[in-house]
Amino acid sequence: MTDKKKILIIQPIHKAGLQLLENNSNFDFEVIENIEIENLKLKIKNCDGISIRTKKIPSEVIQLAQKLKIISRHGVGYDNIDLKLCKEKNITIAITANANAAAVSEHVMFMLLSIAKGKNMYDNTVKSNNFKDRSNLPKALEIWNKNILIAGFGRIGQALIKRCLGFEMNVFVYDPFISSNKIQSLGGTKIENLKKEVSNMDVISLHMPLNENSKNLINYDLLKSMKKNCIIINASRGGIVNEKDLNKALDENLIFGAGLDVFEKEPPDSDNQLLNNDKVFLSPHTASFTEECMKRMGIETAENIIDFFDGNLKDSKIIDIK
Ligand SMILES: NC(=O)c1ccc[n+]([C@@H]2O[C@H](COP(=O)([O-])OP(=O)(O)OC[C@H]3O[C@@H](n4cnc5c(N)ncnc54)[C@H](O)[C@@H]3O)[C@@H](O)[C@H]2O)c1
Repeated sequence: MTDKKKILIIQPIHKAGLQLLENNSNFDFEVIENIEIENLKLKIKNCDGISIRTKKIPSEVIQLAQKLKIISRHGVGYDNIDLKLCKEKNITIAITANANAAAVSEHVMFMLLSIAKGKNMYDNTVKSNNFKDRSNLPKALEIWNKNILIAGFGRIGQALIKRCLGFEMNVFVYDPFISSNKIQSLGGTKIENLKKEVSNMDVISLHMPLNENSKNLINYDLLKSMKKNCIIINASRGGIVNEKDLNKALDENLIFGAGLDVFEKEPPDSDNQLLNNDKVFLSPHTASFTEECMKRMGIETAENIIDFFDGNLKDSKIIDIK
């Protein structure tokens, strides 16, 4: 490489990732925490590569990039980037394909078990000196032998199935793009028609991208046909579950509970009714925020930039923009 490549790290990544860039004489990098549009517009002009987290990068910012060749996403979702514009400008988008699945699928199990076991019910009972009331508490649910539907069977869905099988759940998969053979080989059963099969499920966990096909997939119509003990988990993207419909369904006892890591608007507005609904378990888009995963993501984000300029970036890390 002749000139040093200028890399802008938009919002900090793990120091192990920064170290890789620091140790490589082909790169100069700057970490910026000020993500106001005007600052991004100023900084992006002369960059060869950027890394971004979940913050939306406005098209008007990308438009100003004169040399930008790669956007390295710290994560796997890329709905915060204008794909069409990147294609026009011949900008590669890379993701941390290997980093997230274990952390996110563990978070799903954490949410599922928390909801099934009454969140902090037992802990609160003992700590508030009410041990003697143990027989009067609402009964927890088991997940053993229950039907779970994994909707979206990519990296995270396939990590989740292993955990569900470990708990001896019956796993069904809805993913029009994955063959029945593949699903069967991993211990699941493919379903073709979500509407038809949803009434047999005790748990539904969503692991697909947000796009025009998946937006509002979980709506009042579908919620009406679910089992009364059904638990829905969304650790994919906000907007796949219609939040107003979910809140209504929970209030009407159409389903048992829901776990949401992601929201239509992040952070959610303070008047979002789900914030006051005891039947939901919420986390602030932190399914991948484990110590270990943050380190893996930081390293992979930096490696993808380095590999790109070395000509070694694997196709499996690159988003194929149609
Ligand atoms: N909560 C978090 O912190 C967090 C972290 C990582 C990823 N995610 C999100 O999780 C989701 C899954 O990530 P992944 O790495 O497994 O992605 P992936 O690309 O490996 O898998 C997605 C799967 O969804 C399937 N799919 C696409 N459209 C579908 C539809 N309409 N119905 C059913 N299936 C559909 C695809 O065939 C694919 O198999 C993404 O939305 C990603 O943004 C969230």
